[in-house]
Amino acid sequence: MSVKNPSPFTGHVNGHAAGDARHAAFHGSARTGAASLGLTVRPRRNRQSEWARRLVRENTLSTNDLIWPLFVIEGNQSQDVASMPGVQRLPIEQVVAEARRARDLDIPAVALFPYTDPALRDPEGGEAVNPDNLVCRAVRAIKAAVPDIGVVTDVALDPYTSHGHDGVMDGDTILNDETVALLVAQAMTLAAAGADVIAPSDMMDGRVGAIRAALDQAGYADVQIMAYAAKYASAFYGPFRDAVGSNVTLVGDKRTYQMDPANSDEALREVALDLEEGADMVMVKPGLPYLDIIHRVKETFGVPTFAYQVSGEYAMIEGAARNGWIDGDKAMVESLIAFKRAGADGILTYFAPRVAAMLKAVK
Ligand code: PBG
Repeated sequence: MSVKNPSPFTGHVNGHAAGDARHAAFHGSARTGAASLGLTVRPRRNRQSEWARRLVRENTLSTNDLIWPLFVIEGNQSQDVASMPGVQRLPIEQVVAEARRARDLDIPAVALFPYTDPALRDPEGGEAVNPDNLVCRAVRAIKAAVPDIGVVTDVALDPYTSHGHDGVMDGDTILNDETVALLVAQAMTLAAAGADVIAPSDMMDGRVGAIRAALDQAGYADVQIMAYAAKYASAFYGPFRDAVGSNVTLVGDKRTYQMDPANSDEALREVALDLEEGADMVMVKPGLPYLDIIHRVKETFGVPTFAYQVSGEYAMIEGAARNGWIDGDKAMVESLIAFKRAGADGILTYFAPRVAAMLKAVK
């Protein structure tokens, strides 16, 4: 299951192809008769063949590192997400099939996101606590058909609110404590449906502690919490909002609750609070533009740390690849190994099935 990752720089999955011009390249100056620099230390020595590169490789990507986000839609017709080429909103039956595929690809967990019928959205996001809502039905269907895959569910009101915000509003203000009460109810609904991991993505203060207390009191002490601990107010969520339909509803922006991209110490404070409140795992989001944050979080706390390679990151790589501007597979692998190098234990990525298939092929 765990394999040395394909070299992000050559893209050769088993990698013997690159080797053999190496003597010429390595000893080039001597062979051409040019003056030797007389170097004692030559870092290139360890890079001259694939076996040597494999031997000194510091980080590896494995299928164990992946969480696959899936979009769920009502009915029986899948829909393309225009801004995420290759990604679709899927009816429950197909979500179950993808969960089975994920299990077969050794992907440990999927994360579910609903496209809620606009008619069901209201200012309080009431559909979030309907035990028969789309996500709850999807969770039950997956757990019934593929019990050994982890199911991660988002806690936030934005797929359910008519204004597209993660919380309830008073005028222009997102109310914190009132929202937390609703998020607790949402988390309880998801736990009752069988979710393994509750992932609060709303960035309200105190929500992790409130959710942990409620879960414990209701006998869900084993339900894990993966906190979106350092979540930035980012333009890279655009395609996701397209996928869940909150781009049309969203009024204004999320800067009063999501973090300022200029801040780094504040991320550590957010992570510290979520850990004190009972988070089992923490997440940094978006991914590549925030590798420094992942690194600091992992170094500071040494806890399970996840990165979310978000929709806009996926769209940039995939969009460029489909235009022939970059090599999509190589860019995908290079971006994912970057998360491992930064210190992430795992990555939420829309590339999960594609990279897992590559990794399994080199077993
Ligand atoms: C909802 C949520 C968002 C994402 C995950 N959960 C969007 C947002 O906060 O607006 C983004 C994921 C992605 O862009 O892939 N709170």
